[in-house]
Amino acid sequence: MACRVLITGHLGYLGSVFVPRFLEAGHSITGLDTGYFEPCRLEDPEVPAVRAVPEIRKDLRDLAASDLRGFDAVVHLAALSNDPIGNLNSRWTTEINEAGTLRLAELARAAGVSRFLFSSSCIMYGAAGQGEVDETSPLDPKTDYARSKVASERSISALASDSFSPVYLRNGTIYGLSARMRLDTVTNQFVASALTTGVVAIHGDGTPWRPVVHVEDVASAFLSALDAPRERIHDRAINVGAEESNHTIIEIADEVARQVKGAHIERLSRPDADRRTYRARFELIGKLLPGFRPRWSLARGVDQLCRGLRGLDLAAHEGPKYVRLRWLASLIERGAVDADLRLVRSREVAA
Ligand SMILES: NC(=O)c1ccc[n+]([C@@H]2O[C@H](COP(=O)([O-])OP(=O)(O)OC[C@H]3O[C@@H](n4cnc5c(N)ncnc54)[C@H](O)[C@@H]3O)[C@@H](O)[C@H]2O)c1
Repeated sequence: MACRVLITGHLGYLGSVFVPRFLEAGHSITGLDTGYFEPCRLEDPEVPAVRAVPEIRKDLRDLAASDLRGFDAVVHLAALSNDPIGNLNSRWTTEINEAGTLRLAELARAAGVSRFLFSSSCIMYGAAGQGEVDETSPLDPKTDYARSKVASERSISALASDSFSPVYLRNGTIYGLSARMRLDTVTNQFVASALTTGVVAIHGDGTPWRPVVHVEDVASAFLSALDAPRERIHDRAINVGAEESNHTIIEIADEVARQVKGAHIERLSRPDADRRTYRARFELIGKLLPGFRPRWSLARGVDQLCRGLRGLDLAAHEGPKYVRLRWLASLIERGAVDADLRLVRSREVAA
């Protein structure tokens, strides 16, 4: 059924893929974003073009009740989107990811929005060791970012009612092409590095497990959750991916080195190497969202990235444009955001 959907964070990595996919599925879309990364475009014929939609250009923290009127569903992507950003200033992550999310959900419920899809993360399982994690596993968030996802799931859940159905889609690490590319997640970063420097650098022995999932498959999972009968998804946490999505870091590096001619793997022994390791289970998504069929294997996704990023130069790879933390740092340096990380509209955001 066609829905009127508000997608927050529509000018980000996921949002730039979600908008065209949701439009193709027949939904009517409004975006909501402050626009931190709006200029961070990847211009490439392989990348689905950005589709312009009506939008609310606002900071999530400044929403008014009227912003939420007239929608059937909210897809909530807007957030400071990784651990290192949380380390920049934990207050910003708390204010935007936790307080901003809660306020959005409260306003949505009050406005009669019946479905609320929250972009959560498998990162909340922490360092699960060699065991597998499913949606019932204990949560062990290690960072401000991960804690913000746990806190948000809990606070949104407290609002669940007969007429307000939230669902928490716990994504693995996402990869694949987007018109607003990120090169700070594992597979994307490996491909960009292999293409521009010939090196895939891994820290430690590469044995940690990661569930990785293609951005197009994530969009499909959200579309399925939007369409699913209410009783299936009401107030449920669901891991997003497939059993085959679990890979060790060395497997991902091997695949990239195999596909990028002349590239080789370098093992760096850094004492601060990321030791998180977890394999996620994906049985629940098959049961609750039977219409969801992941279509991307790691090999196919790496091939897509190689084709899309082939012309990337080293400066673009190492510069701030595709690394969220570096871009925010450059906005701060240029005075384009204030002390609360609100965009100063009169200042230049462009690179
Ligand atoms: N990319 C991943 O691997 C991954 C994995 C798991 C979960 N997620 C979650 O999915 C969501 C989208 O991730 P992404 O990779 O597209 O991140 P992104 O950083 O590319 O996009 C986030 C968007 O939110 C917007 N935003 C941030 N703060 C805002 C504010 N205060 N007001 C209004 N807009 C604001 C930004 O401008 C940006 O366009 C996030 O919630 C993230 O935590 C991402």
